[in-house]
Amino acid sequence: MTLRPMNIDPTHLFIAGAWGPSLGGDVLPLLNPSDGSTLCHIAKGSAADIDAAVRAAQAALDGEWGRLPAFERGRILARIGAEVLEHIDHLTDLESMDVGKPLTQARNDVIALARYMEFYAGAADKIHGETIPFQDGYTVYTLREPHGVTGHIVPWNYPMQIIGRSVGAALAMGNACVLKPAEEACLSALAFAEICSRAGLPAGALNVVTGLGAEAGAALTAHRGVQHMSFTGSVGVGKVIQSTSAQNVVPVTLELGGKSPQLVFEDADLDAALPFLVNAGLQNAGQTCSASSRILVQRGVYDDVVARMGAAYRALKVGPAAADLNVGPLISNRQKGIVESYIAKGADLRMVAQAKIASDAPAGGAYVAATLFADVPPTHVLAQEEIFGPVQVIIPFEDEEEAIRIANGTEFGLVASVWSLSGARQMRLAKRLRAGQVFLNNYGAAGGVELPFGGVGLSGHGREKGFEALYGFSTLKTVAALHG
Ligand code: NAI
Ligand code: MG
Repeated sequence: MTLRPMNIDPTHLFIAGAWGPSLGGDVLPLLNPSDGSTLCHIAKGSAADIDAAVRAAQAALDGEWGRLPAFERGRILARIGAEVLEHIDHLTDLESMDVGKPLTQARNDVIALARYMEFYAGAADKIHGETIPFQDGYTVYTLREPHGVTGHIVPWNYPMQIIGRSVGAALAMGNACVLKPAEEACLSALAFAEICSRAGLPAGALNVVTGLGAEAGAALTAHRGVQHMSFTGSVGVGKVIQSTSAQNVVPVTLELGGKSPQLVFEDADLDAALPFLVNAGLQNAGQTCSASSRILVQRGVYDDVVARMGAAYRALKVGPAAADLNVGPLISNRQKGIVESYIAKGADLRMVAQAKIASDAPAGGAYVAATLFADVPPTHVLAQEEIFGPVQVIIPFEDEEEAIRIANGTEFGLVASVWSLSGARQMRLAKRLRAGQVFLNNYGAAGGVELPFGGVGLSGHGREKGFEALYGFSTLKTVAALHG
């Protein structure tokens, strides 16, 4: 396969509708997580490149893009979605190789990217203001308007999905975007820019600057020409982005991951639950913001669930992305080191099972054997901190009150799920669980692009996906006319 996304040069940036090298001409190596080799080089964008991108975005707003009616923006998004699907094989290969994602999982991400474009294509002309009854002699109405230039800092775990949900919604509302993908995985961002260009997105409506977080990312966040920041990534960088944006008094959307629980009650359908209990923790090798890393199980079915999950772990296959196994490599050997140090912190815990790494997995790859712990105290570091790797902990509970206390007992609150056939319990827990999304007898709702998503607490704030994202990517103007 070619490593040139859509046949473009990966050392180029996409600014004002044109491809070219960074102003400084510097490049960075992009590594293959499956074997540690260098896949290709990417441009190391600087503050000067970010400045050019923000100016190009502002020029788009002042020009053709800013004048397009909403339904025309929708048409362009629909064409982008169609082009994504047309190139599904190429995009799957790129994302799989770049992120180390098993092929089937990478393909699902391409489909999700297309779905975001389709959803926001249809939504673009269906967001509107209101007329407000007011005093005699007035007519009052509201206008939903784009923020202007929006900054998008995207991580390496689901580049295509996160670009889809954030850039898709921002473009639908008529913003002009500057996208800074992660230095660890950015080929799909470059491919997406080329697709947008071929689909007729006016120059400057989307600009892509690759580079380091501390350099290009920090410059984008600090730029005075940016009117909204959207960030998905670590809590630490999220705090930096919020405080930097505060200096410019710019709104931020932060999606910072979690420690999401699944609660399994004695009246649950365990056959239905089991694949979700395991897959929700191991998808993308556990490097998922909404990964379910805590499994809370009621005493009466505890031993059964531990045994079944242990058996599932022993049957897992871990190996290169292209082999399309259950679990691929982590993004980098740095991430592998972090996850292995967490597994070492579990030395005092009961290790139920560990998956096997394929014997032919290349030595330079960032492989970690998926590991399952049981009888884990809710306050243990492995039950409190986001590990971001293929590690799950099982925690016993006696009753509903204790389950809620443990589930809500971390600083995060992104996703939670309840496995129980009692309708009354489902309704009670849906209200009492501290999370942005609660799933009843499922987990993740197959990624549903239509479903608002985001966190509370350290998981962040603001909502992405669905219609709700369109409110976040717009601002409301009230117009009051006194006409007598
Ligand atoms: P990170 O937060 O450093 O990187 C995410 C993005 O932020 C990348 O595009 C990076 O270039 C950018 N960035 C980094 N420093 C920046 C700065 N000072 N200003 C502006 N942008 C900056 O995450 P990292 O280091 O890759 O992963 C560390 C941990 O973060 C993971 O182990 C995981 O716990 C968490 N994480 C959570 C994600 C989620 O989906 N919520 C995604 C990626 C990481
Ligand atoms: Mg970092």
